[in-house]
Amino acid sequence: MLQTAIPIADDTALLPDETPEIPAQPEAVRVKGVTRIFHQQRVLDALDITIRTGEFIALLGASGSGKTTLLRILAGLDLPDEGEAWVPPKRTVVFQEPRLVQSKSVWRNVVVGLPRQLATRDRAIRALREVSLDHRADAWPATLSGGEAQRAALARALVREPELLLLDEPFAALDALTRLRMQRLIRELCAAHGPSTLLVTHDVEEAILLADRVLVLKEGRIAFDERISLPQPRLAGGHAFDTLRSRLLAQLGVHDDR
Ligand SMILES: Nc1ncnc2c1ncn2[C@@H]1O[C@H](COP(=O)(O)OP(=O)(O)OP(=O)(O)O)[C@@H](O)[C@H]1O
Ligand SMILES: [Mg+2]
Repeated sequence: MLQTAIPIADDTALLPDETPEIPAQPEAVRVKGVTRIFHQQRVLDALDITIRTGEFIALLGASGSGKTTLLRILAGLDLPDEGEAWVPPKRTVVFQEPRLVQSKSVWRNVVVGLPRQLATRDRAIRALREVSLDHRADAWPATLSGGEAQRAALARALVREPELLLLDEPFAALDALTRLRMQRLIRELCAAHGPSTLLVTHDVEEAILLADRVLVLKEGRIAFDERISLPQPRLAGGHAFDTLRSRLLAQLGVHDDR
């Protein structure tokens, strides 16, 4: 549900009577005319995006194109200079690195920051079971492998039952096999929990395998926006997959040699 309007950076928060008309469901996110400027550079430039409830979006773009900037605005960690973003109140972020608290056991990390009555071991174990990590509930973060730590971060995100799940290259630091397993896990968990999901990735194949819709961010705006109709679960390869892959690579300025 669209509830939270993110105020713009100069603190001119929208007053209730100025709030633009809230669109009917099934929109989960609406970004309208969002601009973010760093050092006179318009990293996001009057950006418009709509995400439907339960939709899984992959966001591609060259390094420095503003993907993390957008994600931080949607997470409420940064404010736009112009424009507005409406997001659901319950949203969580998984970053490239797991960001676990080293002085807390794995299960305590999963429920860290939750109100005391919700921060129970039972709740943490249930979330850890979903990512097949319940056997490491009492371990210290430093003893986890990279993939395990990232699964713990995913459990920490899901235990909050987000309406919007923001993923900033969550698999980038993982080896190829772990990455494949994580991709499958994310897709299954998102199908089961049904949050709207925005996955930032550099990996074109990952985007096609996972997403309902792929966006490419270029020069501060969405340069490519296409629904992917391939049935799930998907495998890489085949005519439709390869054609879309080539088009996305072209968008990113990469020549496809296949
Ligand atoms: N807090 C900040 N202060 C100054 N410049 C910033 C800040 N945050 C981002 N930028 C600049 O904005 C641009 C976009 O950064 P951003 O992190 O959003 O890119 P990205 O698309 O996520 O890149 P990557 O794929 O490498 O993660 C970059 O040029 C970056 O240096
Ligand atoms: Mg980034």
